[in-house]
Amino acid sequence: MELTMIGAGYVGLVSGACFAEFGAHVTCLDVDESKIDDLNSGKIPIYEPGLDDLVKKNVEAGRLSFTTEFSTTIGKADLIFIGVGTPTRRGDGHADLKYVYAAAKEIAKHLEGYTVIVDKSTVPVGTARQVHRVIREENPDADFDVASNPEFLREGAAIGDFMRPDRVVIGVESEKAEALLRELYRPINLIEAPIHVTNLESAELVKYASNAFWQQRSHLLMRYQHSVRKWERMSMP
Ligand SMILES: NC(=O)c1ccc[n+]([C@@H]2O[C@H](COP(=O)([O-])OP(=O)(O)OC[C@H]3O[C@@H](n4cnc5c(N)ncnc54)[C@H](O)[C@@H]3O)[C@@H](O)[C@H]2O)c1
Repeated sequence: MELTMIGAGYVGLVSGACFAEFGAHVTCLDVDESKIDDLNSGKIPIYEPGLDDLVKKNVEAGRLSFTTEFSTTIGKADLIFIGVGTPTRRGDGHADLKYVYAAAKEIAKHLEGYTVIVDKSTVPVGTARQVHRVIREENPDADFDVASNPEFLREGAAIGDFMRPDRVVIGVESEKAEALLRELYRPINLIEAPIHVTNLESAELVKYASNAFWQQRSHLLMRYQHSVRKWERMSMP
């Protein structure tokens, strides 16, 4: 299976290396030339335990490579993951989707044959449908589906989280796209981690709900810790 990961940042690099470890042929594509030069010379631009060994192993096995070229990469891919940044927009606090749509537009120009384009970036509900619209407008003849596959990994434990996840969430609209994603995630199924298949919007919503849960949880723990410390100070003789 040929896979392109758009964005070789934290999520793109970890996911790309892990998908290569699953057996896919992965090309990580980034617009940042110095990042790709570093990766091609064996330098890993982020620190994540185990990542350098995983990248080295899969590059040596011929399953993982790095490029800045859309034109030579996109056409051969069965699956294209979008893992670019979605920073918080100044002023209104919304996710800035300009990198996602720029990537979608560039992908559209080079599609060949049936391809599934998968949002891995954290995006608001409705974004996958907008990605579909952008690609269709740019390339009316393209044969493609969009899908959503949010990422739940935690920095510092990212490889373990990816290889042994609590669950994988896949939002799809066609059986063909579901079959390709299920095939990609087969090693996860073999360890009996659940794969939840939903529609596009539910998959996008699950990620936001999960982020909200963890934020509330850490806020409550901090308040609890603060109250315990206060109580300890008050009860000291
Ligand atoms: N970092 C995390 O722990 C984490 C966990 C889960 C989900 N996410 C989500 O994953 C997404 C990516 O996050 P990240 O931390 O990997 O971001 P990042 O900033 O580390 O990496 C993004 C990369 O995308 C590249 N890029 C931007 N536009 C591009 C384009 N048009 N074509 C090709 N490459 C392009 C940038 O050069 C950069 O290298 C975000 O939506 C984030 O919210 C992050």
